[in-house]
Amino acid sequence: MQGLHIHGIHHAYGETAVLENVSLTVPAGELVCLLGPSGCGKTTLLRVAAGLEKLQTGSITIDDTVVAEPGLELPPEERKIGFMFQDYALFPHLTIRENVSFGLFRQSKRAAHERAMEMLHQVGLDHYAEDFPHTLSGGQQQRVALARALAPAPRLLLLDEPFSGLDTNMRARIRDETLNMLKQTNVATLMVTHDPREAMYMSDRIKVMGANGQVLQSGRPVDIYYKPVDEYVARLFGPVNVIQGSVCQGGLETSFGRYPADEIGDGGDMRVLIRLEGVSLHNGAATPGDAPVEVLSAHLLGDSSIVHIRFKEGANQGLEIRARVHGSFDPTESGEVWARVDPRCVFQYAGTPS
Ligand SMILES: Nc1ncnc2c1ncn2[C@@H]1O[C@H](COP(=O)(O)OP(=O)(O)O)[C@@H](O)[C@H]1O
Ligand SMILES: [Mg+2]
Repeated sequence: MQGLHIHGIHHAYGETAVLENVSLTVPAGELVCLLGPSGCGKTTLLRVAAGLEKLQTGSITIDDTVVAEPGLELPPEERKIGFMFQDYALFPHLTIRENVSFGLFRQSKRAAHERAMEMLHQVGLDHYAEDFPHTLSGGQQQRVALARALAPAPRLLLLDEPFSGLDTNMRARIRDETLNMLKQTNVATLMVTHDPREAMYMSDRIKVMGANGQVLQSGRPVDIYYKPVDEYVARLFGPVNVIQGSVCQGGLETSFGRYPADEIGDGGDMRVLIRLEGVSLHNGAATPGDAPVEVLSAHLLGDSSIVHIRFKEGANQGLEIRARVHGSFDPTESGEVWARVDPRCVFQYAGTPS
């Protein structure tokens, strides 16, 4: 299969193990994101894939060519990889065009010139071709870096926190532009970030890494968001409420009705996590599963509001939780208020709420 295959990578610096048995596949044309806390080994994995770090165990294949396995290591320049690393700045003493031509050393001068201009045209910077990097804004420099990475038509693109140096507005724009550029190529892209929203926005698939370089969960953004394997992964993508539930006759009893229990064991306490946008409020007729609540306060954020509510009865009586509701919410207007939940936003894990 076309794309990147990483199999069974372990990596240690001296005695310190950083990556433990990491395997992943990035099909051609797809973007896979490694999401994990600082220091968990993301950059190390990219460096191993690129050949900048010596392979210790495992194998790496790009488009059916083995580029690294025990006894064989192709040098970085023979792997047909494009990089955009956090600290992979443009060469200050080269013009914009020379920067983009940098990886085109195998081509004739004329072909390299034409290809560089074509790439600069694609990122809208052909007018700056003969300028030097310091004359460009951060966003423009980022576009040049992308043009430089894609100019040699790599089979694999490695992006290490590529947008972290940009301010929020510019980051959103450059992300979109990058996605558009990538869609026009059929390159396999492995990107690293510690920003869960960025991972959700950009990825076809996400690999969530734990602090010790192990993969905790992989899947499409929608799978990871709605089916997190554990509480850590659930919380990574946004705030949650925690209420108490209990297992009874194969079902999970909660303040919001009965759910199929993941773990069968009667009498067991469960931590029930609920995403904030999974809680909705109404003051109409109650239906099964609706919980009577008291509204404590509402805070308008703009497109949504956070509403603090308190259970009036049941196992979670007196407990405060939060709901994220669309638009504004008037807490004074309400009268009797009911909360209900979207089952997709409810997750259960063994244990009691602390
Ligand atoms: N060249 C190196 N020598 C020794 N330790 C390193 C080296 N590079 C990274 N490390 C250590 O390996 C761990 C993983 O680093 P890194 O791959 O950069 O993580 P991330 O990119 O996820 O922040 C960290 O504890 C880091 O200090
Ligand atoms: Mg890093």
